[in-house]
Amino acid sequence: MNNLKLFTGAFNPTARLRLRVYRLQSQPRSIFELASVLAIAAALTTSMLTSPGIAADVDGVPSEFPAGVLGETVRLGEALVNTTSEHPLSKPFIGNSLNCTSCHLDGGRHPEAASFIGVASAYPAFSPRENKVITLEDRILNCFIRSQNGKRPPNGSPVPVAIATYITWLSTGAPLKMNPAKSLGPNHLKMMDVDRYTPDLSRGASLYEDRCADCHGDDGLGNDEGPPVWGESSFNDGAGLSKLAKMASWLKVAMPLDDTDLTEQESVDIAAFVNSHRRPHFPAELAPAELAPAKHATTTKDSASPH
Ligand code: HEC
Ligand code: HEC
Repeated sequence: MNNLKLFTGAFNPTARLRLRVYRLQSQPRSIFELASVLAIAAALTTSMLTSPGIAADVDGVPSEFPAGVLGETVRLGEALVNTTSEHPLSKPFIGNSLNCTSCHLDGGRHPEAASFIGVASAYPAFSPRENKVITLEDRILNCFIRSQNGKRPPNGSPVPVAIATYITWLSTGAPLKMNPAKSLGPNHLKMMDVDRYTPDLSRGASLYEDRCADCHGDDGLGNDEGPPVWGESSFNDGAGLSKLAKMASWLKVAMPLDDTDLTEQESVDIAAFVNSHRRPHFPAELAPAELAPAKHATTTKDSASPH
Protein backbone atom coordinates (compact mmCIF):
# COMPACT_ATOMS: atom_id res chain seq x y z
CA MET A 1 0.00 0.00 0.00
CA ASN A 2 2.92 2.34 0.68
CA ASN A 3 4.11 1.85 -2.85
CA LEU A 4 0.69 2.82 -4.12
CA LYS A 5 0.94 6.15 -2.31
CA LEU A 6 3.86 7.07 -4.53
CA PHE A 7 1.54 7.10 -7.50
CA THR A 8 -1.72 8.50 -6.23
CA GLY A 9 -0.70 12.14 -5.82
CA ALA A 10 -1.35 14.57 -8.65
CA PHE A 11 -1.08 11.94 -11.33
CA ASN A 12 -3.39 9.30 -12.62
CA PRO A 13 -1.96 6.09 -11.15
CA THR A 14 -2.94 4.17 -14.26
CA ALA A 15 -0.82 6.54 -16.31
CA ARG A 16 2.20 5.95 -14.11
CA LEU A 17 1.66 2.22 -14.12
CA ARG A 18 1.31 2.32 -17.87
CA LEU A 19 4.57 4.20 -18.33
CA ARG A 20 6.28 1.76 -16.05
CA VAL A 21 4.79 -1.17 -17.90
CA TYR A 22 5.90 0.37 -21.18
CA ARG A 23 9.46 0.63 -19.94
CA LEU A 24 9.35 -2.85 -18.55
CA GLN A 25 8.29 -4.14 -21.93
CA SER A 26 10.93 -2.25 -23.82
CA GLN A 27 14.27 -2.26 -22.05
CA PRO A 28 14.67 -2.49 -18.30
CA ARG A 29 18.00 -0.83 -17.58
CA SER A 30 19.02 -3.28 -14.90
CA ILE A 31 17.81 -6.23 -12.95
CA PHE A 32 17.14 -3.82 -10.05
CA GLU A 33 14.87 -1.67 -12.17
CA LEU A 34 13.11 -4.78 -13.38
CA ALA A 35 12.62 -5.96 -9.80
CA SER A 36 11.27 -2.60 -8.63
CA VAL A 37 8.93 -2.35 -11.60
CA LEU A 38 7.59 -5.81 -10.86
CA ALA A 39 7.15 -4.95 -7.17
CA ILE A 40 5.27 -1.77 -8.01
CA ALA A 41 3.10 -3.49 -10.58
CA ALA A 42 2.31 -6.25 -8.08
CA ALA A 43 1.45 -3.71 -5.36
CA LEU A 44 -0.80 -1.77 -7.68
CA THR A 45 -2.50 -4.87 -8.99
CA THR A 46 -3.15 -6.14 -5.47
CA SER A 47 -4.53 -2.81 -4.35
CA MET A 48 -6.66 -2.53 -7.48
CA LEU A 49 -8.20 -5.88 -6.70
CA THR A 50 -8.99 -5.00 -3.11
CA SER A 51 -9.89 -1.32 -3.35
CA PRO A 52 -12.68 0.39 -5.26
CA GLY A 53 -12.10 2.12 -8.61
CA ILE A 54 -8.99 4.13 -9.26
CA ALA A 55 -10.24 6.95 -11.45
CA ALA A 56 -12.51 9.00 -9.25
CA ASP A 57 -10.47 12.08 -10.20
CA VAL A 58 -11.64 12.13 -13.83
CA ASP A 59 -15.01 13.71 -14.58
CA GLY A 60 -17.58 11.24 -15.80
CA VAL A 61 -15.66 8.13 -14.80
CA PRO A 62 -17.33 5.97 -12.15
CA SER A 63 -15.42 5.74 -8.90
CA GLU A 64 -15.92 2.00 -8.53
CA PHE A 65 -15.67 -1.06 -10.71
CA PRO A 66 -18.83 -3.16 -10.92
CA ALA A 67 -18.92 -6.34 -8.82
CA GLY A 68 -18.45 -9.88 -10.06
CA VAL A 69 -17.85 -11.06 -13.60
CA LEU A 70 -18.86 -7.69 -15.04
CA GLY A 71 -16.20 -5.91 -12.99
CA GLU A 72 -13.59 -8.51 -13.93
CA THR A 73 -14.44 -7.95 -17.57
CA VAL A 74 -14.09 -4.16 -17.19
CA ARG A 75 -10.67 -4.70 -15.64
CA LEU A 76 -9.67 -7.11 -18.39
CA GLY A 77 -10.71 -4.48 -20.94
CA GLU A 78 -8.63 -1.87 -19.16
CA ALA A 79 -5.61 -4.21 -19.09
CA LEU A 80 -6.03 -4.89 -22.83
CA VAL A 81 -6.22 -1.16 -23.59
CA ASN A 82 -3.07 -0.47 -21.55
CA THR A 83 -0.94 -3.43 -22.69
CA THR A 84 -2.46 -4.30 -26.07
CA SER A 85 0.75 -5.29 -27.83
CA GLU A 86 1.92 -7.53 -24.98
CA HIS A 87 -1.24 -9.01 -23.44
CA PRO A 88 -1.51 -12.71 -24.40
CA LEU A 89 -5.15 -12.29 -25.49
CA SER A 90 -4.59 -9.30 -27.80
CA LYS A 91 -0.97 -9.73 -28.89
CA PRO A 92 -1.76 -12.23 -31.69
CA PHE A 93 -3.87 -9.55 -33.40
CA ILE A 94 -1.41 -6.66 -33.11
CA GLY A 95 1.13 -5.80 -35.81
CA ASN A 96 3.12 -3.05 -34.09
CA SER A 97 4.47 -2.04 -30.69
CA LEU A 98 1.62 0.34 -29.79
CA ASN A 99 -1.16 -0.02 -27.22
CA CYS A 100 -4.58 1.60 -27.37
CA THR A 101 -3.41 3.91 -24.58
CA SER A 102 -0.48 5.11 -26.74
CA CYS A 103 -3.02 7.39 -28.47
CA HIS A 104 -6.14 7.13 -26.27
CA LEU A 105 -4.07 8.53 -23.44
CA ASP A 106 -4.51 7.43 -19.81
CA GLY A 107 -6.31 4.29 -20.87
CA GLY A 108 -8.91 6.40 -22.70
CA ARG A 109 -9.59 8.54 -19.60
CA HIS A 110 -7.81 11.62 -20.91
CA PRO A 111 -10.66 14.06 -21.57
CA GLU A 112 -9.28 15.40 -24.88
CA ALA A 113 -6.75 13.00 -26.42
CA ALA A 114 -9.19 10.67 -28.25
CA SER A 115 -11.14 10.07 -25.03
CA PHE A 116 -13.14 6.89 -24.46
CA ILE A 117 -15.37 8.71 -21.98
CA GLY A 118 -18.95 8.73 -23.23
CA VAL A 119 -18.04 6.92 -26.46
CA ALA A 120 -20.48 4.03 -25.92
CA SER A 121 -23.41 6.46 -25.88
CA ALA A 122 -22.93 7.23 -29.60
CA TYR A 123 -23.13 3.66 -30.95
CA PRO A 124 -24.51 2.10 -33.13
CA ALA A 125 -23.30 4.84 -35.46
CA PHE A 126 -23.16 5.47 -39.18
CA SER A 127 -19.68 4.96 -40.64
CA PRO A 128 -19.18 6.92 -43.87
CA ARG A 129 -16.00 4.93 -44.52
CA GLU A 130 -17.93 1.66 -44.64
CA ASN A 131 -21.25 3.15 -45.71
CA LYS A 132 -23.09 1.19 -43.04
CA VAL A 133 -24.13 1.29 -39.42
CA ILE A 134 -21.52 -0.18 -37.08
CA THR A 135 -21.55 -1.17 -33.40
CA LEU A 136 -19.04 -0.12 -30.76
CA GLU A 137 -17.45 -3.54 -31.09
CA ASP A 138 -17.08 -3.10 -34.87
CA ARG A 139 -15.47 0.29 -34.22
CA ILE A 140 -13.01 -1.26 -31.80
CA LEU A 141 -12.16 -4.01 -34.29
CA ASN A 142 -11.49 -1.43 -37.00
CA CYS A 143 -8.75 0.04 -34.81
CA PHE A 144 -6.89 -3.23 -34.89
CA ILE A 145 -6.23 -3.15 -38.63
CA ARG A 146 -5.13 0.49 -38.94
CA SER A 147 -3.77 2.08 -35.78
CA GLN A 148 -2.53 -1.28 -34.52
CA ASN A 149 -1.49 -2.46 -38.01
CA GLY A 150 -2.91 -5.90 -37.17
CA LYS A 151 -5.85 -8.23 -37.73
CA ARG A 152 -9.45 -8.13 -36.52
CA PRO A 153 -10.16 -10.50 -33.64
CA PRO A 154 -13.51 -12.26 -34.22
CA ASN A 155 -16.64 -10.30 -33.34
CA GLY A 156 -17.95 -11.50 -29.99
CA SER A 157 -14.58 -12.92 -28.87
CA PRO A 158 -13.11 -12.04 -25.46
CA VAL A 159 -10.88 -9.14 -26.61
CA PRO A 160 -13.47 -6.87 -28.27
CA VAL A 161 -16.13 -7.81 -25.71
CA ALA A 162 -13.85 -6.85 -22.79
CA ILE A 163 -12.72 -3.60 -24.43
CA ALA A 164 -16.33 -2.67 -25.27
CA THR A 165 -17.27 -3.42 -21.66
CA TYR A 166 -14.50 -1.15 -20.39
CA ILE A 167 -15.49 1.67 -22.77
CA THR A 168 -19.15 1.27 -21.80
CA TRP A 169 -18.19 1.51 -18.13
CA LEU A 170 -16.22 4.69 -18.91
CA SER A 171 -19.43 5.99 -20.55
CA THR A 172 -21.61 5.50 -17.46
CA GLY A 173 -24.08 8.36 -17.14
CA ALA A 174 -23.55 9.77 -20.64
CA PRO A 175 -26.92 10.40 -22.31
CA LEU A 176 -27.57 8.16 -25.31
CA LYS A 177 -27.04 10.16 -28.46
CA MET A 178 -26.61 8.33 -31.75
CA ASN A 179 -24.21 10.01 -34.17
CA PRO A 180 -25.86 10.07 -37.61
CA ALA A 181 -22.83 11.72 -39.26
CA LYS A 182 -19.82 9.62 -38.29
CA SER A 183 -18.62 6.90 -35.96
CA LEU A 184 -17.29 9.14 -33.20
CA GLY A 185 -18.40 9.71 -29.63
CA PRO A 186 -19.37 12.96 -27.87
CA ASN A 187 -15.84 13.76 -26.63
CA HIS A 188 -14.02 13.04 -29.85
CA LEU A 189 -10.86 14.86 -30.79
CA LYS A 190 -11.42 18.55 -31.46
CA MET A 191 -10.23 19.12 -35.01
CA MET A 192 -8.22 22.25 -35.75
CA ASP A 193 -8.60 24.01 -39.08
CA VAL A 194 -5.28 22.94 -40.59
CA ASP A 195 -6.02 24.67 -43.88
CA ARG A 196 -5.19 27.94 -42.16
CA TYR A 197 -1.55 26.87 -41.89
CA THR A 198 1.16 25.99 -44.39
CA PRO A 199 3.23 23.11 -43.01
CA ASP A 200 6.97 23.76 -42.91
CA LEU A 201 8.94 20.49 -42.89
CA SER A 202 12.30 21.93 -41.86
CA ARG A 203 10.75 23.82 -38.96
CA GLY A 204 8.94 20.56 -38.08
CA ALA A 205 12.28 18.71 -38.11
CA SER A 206 13.98 21.07 -35.69
CA LEU A 207 10.92 21.22 -33.42
CA TYR A 208 10.86 17.40 -33.41
CA GLU A 209 14.52 17.35 -32.42
CA ASP A 210 13.89 19.83 -29.55
CA ARG A 211 10.54 18.63 -28.24
CA CYS A 212 10.06 14.97 -29.22
CA ALA A 213 13.32 13.14 -29.95
CA ASP A 214 14.19 12.54 -26.28
CA CYS A 215 11.20 10.22 -25.94
CA HIS A 216 10.66 8.97 -29.49
CA GLY A 217 14.28 8.85 -30.75
CA ASP A 218 16.08 10.88 -33.42
CA ASP A 219 15.20 8.06 -35.78
CA GLY A 220 11.50 8.08 -34.72
CA LEU A 221 11.71 4.39 -33.84
CA GLY A 222 11.00 4.92 -30.14
CA ASN A 223 13.11 4.24 -27.04
CA ASP A 224 12.47 3.35 -23.40
CA GLU A 225 10.64 6.68 -22.90
CA GLY A 226 8.14 6.43 -25.73
CA PRO A 227 6.81 4.33 -28.62
CA PRO A 228 7.79 4.63 -32.30
CA VAL A 229 6.18 7.42 -34.33
CA TRP A 230 7.17 6.09 -37.75
CA GLY A 231 8.83 2.96 -39.20
CA GLU A 232 7.78 -0.70 -39.25
CA SER A 233 6.55 -0.81 -35.63
CA SER A 234 4.29 2.23 -36.00
CA PHE A 235 0.65 2.66 -37.06
CA ASN A 236 -0.03 2.15 -40.78
CA ASP A 237 -0.94 4.66 -43.48
CA GLY A 238 -4.65 3.85 -43.12
CA ALA A 239 -4.72 5.06 -39.49
CA GLY A 240 -6.29 8.35 -38.41
CA LEU A 241 -2.97 9.72 -37.15
CA SER A 242 -1.40 9.23 -40.59
CA LYS A 243 -3.59 12.15 -41.76
CA LEU A 244 -2.08 15.58 -41.21
CA ALA A 245 -5.23 17.16 -39.72
CA LYS A 246 -5.81 14.34 -37.24
CA MET A 247 -2.15 14.14 -36.21
CA ALA A 248 -1.82 17.91 -35.74
CA SER A 249 -5.06 18.10 -33.73
CA TRP A 250 -4.02 15.16 -31.55
CA LEU A 251 -0.49 16.53 -30.94
CA LYS A 252 -1.97 19.87 -29.88
CA VAL A 253 -3.76 18.25 -26.92
CA ALA A 254 -1.52 15.24 -26.28
CA MET A 255 2.19 15.96 -26.80
CA PRO A 256 4.81 16.57 -25.52
CA LEU A 257 3.45 14.27 -22.83
CA ASP A 258 2.78 16.20 -19.59
CA ASP A 259 3.79 19.48 -21.30
CA THR A 260 1.25 20.18 -24.06
CA ASP A 261 2.11 23.72 -25.11
CA LEU A 262 2.52 23.48 -28.90
CA THR A 263 0.94 26.25 -30.96
CA GLU A 264 -1.34 25.22 -33.84
CA GLN A 265 1.38 26.14 -36.37
CA GLU A 266 3.96 24.06 -34.49
CA SER A 267 1.54 21.11 -34.30
CA VAL A 268 1.03 21.28 -38.07
CA ASP A 269 4.78 21.56 -38.79
CA ILE A 270 5.64 18.61 -36.53
CA ALA A 271 2.72 16.51 -37.82
CA ALA A 272 3.88 17.06 -41.41
CA PHE A 273 7.44 16.12 -40.47
CA VAL A 274 6.42 12.97 -38.56
CA ASN A 275 4.10 11.83 -41.36
CA SER A 276 6.73 12.48 -44.06
CA HIS A 277 8.44 9.25 -42.95
CA ARG A 278 7.76 5.69 -44.00
CA ARG A 279 5.30 3.54 -42.08
CA PRO A 280 3.54 0.24 -42.83
CA HIS A 281 1.11 0.27 -45.74
CA PHE A 282 -2.54 -0.49 -44.98
CA PRO A 283 -3.51 -3.51 -47.08
CA ALA A 284 -6.76 -2.41 -48.71
CA GLU A 285 -7.89 -6.03 -49.15
CA LEU A 286 -8.31 -6.22 -45.36
CA ALA A 287 -11.31 -3.96 -45.73
CA PRO A 288 -12.79 -4.61 -49.16
CA ALA A 289 -15.98 -2.72 -48.31
CA GLU A 290 -13.99 0.39 -47.55
CA LEU A 291 -12.57 3.02 -49.83
CA ALA A 292 -8.86 2.80 -50.58
CA PRO A 293 -6.90 4.53 -47.82
CA ALA A 294 -6.05 8.17 -48.38
CA LYS A 295 -2.57 9.01 -49.61
CA HIS A 296 0.31 9.16 -47.16
CA ALA A 297 0.82 12.50 -45.35
CA THR A 298 -2.07 14.09 -47.16
CA THR A 299 -2.92 17.67 -46.38
CA THR A 300 -6.66 17.19 -46.82
CA LYS A 301 -9.03 16.81 -43.93
CA ASP A 302 -10.24 13.26 -44.21
CA SER A 303 -13.50 13.21 -42.33
CA ALA A 304 -14.52 9.90 -43.87
CA SER A 305 -11.49 8.22 -42.33
CA PRO A 306 -11.65 9.02 -38.64
CA HIS A 307 -9.25 6.36 -37.47
C1 HEC B 1 -1.99 5.25 -33.36
C2 HEC B 1 -3.00 5.81 -32.49
C3 HEC B 1 -4.16 4.93 -32.08
C4 HEC B 1 -4.12 3.67 -31.54
C5 HEC B 1 -2.91 2.82 -31.22
C6 HEC B 1 -5.49 3.27 -31.32
N1 HEC B 1 -6.32 4.27 -31.71
FE1 HEC B 1 -8.36 4.27 -31.57
N2 HEC B 1 -8.43 6.08 -32.46
C7 HEC B 1 -7.33 6.85 -32.79
C8 HEC B 1 -7.79 8.10 -33.33
C9 HEC B 1 -6.90 9.24 -33.80
C10 HEC B 1 -9.20 8.05 -33.33
C11 HEC B 1 -10.17 9.12 -33.77
C12 HEC B 1 -10.48 9.88 -32.54
C13 HEC B 1 -11.22 11.15 -32.76
O1 HEC B 1 -11.30 11.64 -33.89
O2 HEC B 1 -11.72 11.68 -31.73
C14 HEC B 1 -9.57 6.76 -32.77
C15 HEC B 1 -10.89 6.34 -32.58
C16 HEC B 1 -11.25 5.22 -31.84
C17 HEC B 1 -12.59 4.89 -31.41
C18 HEC B 1 -13.83 5.70 -31.71
C19 HEC B 1 -13.90 6.81 -30.69
C20 HEC B 1 -15.17 7.57 -30.74
O3 HEC B 1 -15.15 8.72 -30.23
O4 HEC B 1 -16.18 7.07 -31.23
C21 HEC B 1 -12.53 3.77 -30.66
C22 HEC B 1 -13.68 3.05 -29.97
C23 HEC B 1 -11.14 3.38 -30.63
N3 HEC B 1 -10.38 4.28 -31.35
C24 HEC B 1 -10.67 2.28 -29.96
C25 HEC B 1 -9.34 1.88 -29.97
C26 HEC B 1 -8.88 0.68 -29.34
C27 HEC B 1 -9.75 -0.26 -28.54
C28 HEC B 1 -7.55 0.59 -29.59
C29 HEC B 1 -6.61 -0.51 -29.20
C30 HEC B 1 -6.96 -1.84 -29.67
C31 HEC B 1 -7.17 1.76 -30.38
N4 HEC B 1 -8.29 2.51 -30.60
C32 HEC B 1 -5.88 2.05 -30.79
C33 HEC B 1 -6.02 6.52 -32.64
C34 HEC B 1 -5.55 5.30 -32.17
C1 HEC C 1 8.31 12.89 -22.04
C2 HEC C 1 8.33 11.98 -23.14
C3 HEC C 1 7.60 12.38 -24.40
C4 HEC C 1 7.76 13.51 -25.16
C5 HEC C 1 8.69 14.68 -24.90
C6 HEC C 1 6.91 13.34 -26.31
N1 HEC C 1 6.25 12.15 -26.24
FE1 HEC C 1 4.95 11.41 -27.62
N2 HEC C 1 4.54 9.86 -26.39
C7 HEC C 1 5.18 9.59 -25.21
C8 HEC C 1 4.61 8.40 -24.63
C9 HEC C 1 5.06 7.73 -23.33
C10 HEC C 1 3.58 7.99 -25.49
C11 HEC C 1 2.64 6.83 -25.28
C12 HEC C 1 1.56 7.26 -24.32
C13 HEC C 1 1.35 6.28 -23.24
O1 HEC C 1 1.58 5.07 -23.41
O2 HEC C 1 0.93 6.75 -22.18
C14 HEC C 1 3.58 8.92 -26.61
C15 HEC C 1 2.73 8.83 -27.71
C16 HEC C 1 2.91 9.53 -28.88
C17 HEC C 1 2.22 9.27 -30.13
C18 HEC C 1 1.14 8.24 -30.37
C19 HEC C 1 1.70 6.85 -30.38
C20 HEC C 1 2.75 6.65 -31.42
O3 HEC C 1 3.89 6.37 -31.00
O4 HEC C 1 2.50 6.85 -32.61
C21 HEC C 1 2.69 10.19 -31.04
C22 HEC C 1 2.30 10.30 -32.50
C23 HEC C 1 3.63 11.03 -30.34
N3 HEC C 1 3.74 10.61 -29.03
C24 HEC C 1 4.32 12.08 -30.92
C25 HEC C 1 5.08 12.99 -30.18
C26 HEC C 1 5.61 14.21 -30.74
C27 HEC C 1 5.46 14.64 -32.18
C28 HEC C 1 6.27 14.85 -29.73
C29 HEC C 1 6.91 16.20 -29.76
C30 HEC C 1 6.02 17.31 -29.98
C31 HEC C 1 6.18 13.99 -28.55
N4 HEC C 1 5.46 12.89 -28.87
C32 HEC C 1 6.79 14.27 -27.33
C33 HEC C 1 6.22 10.31 -24.65
C34 HEC C 1 6.63 11.54 -25.08
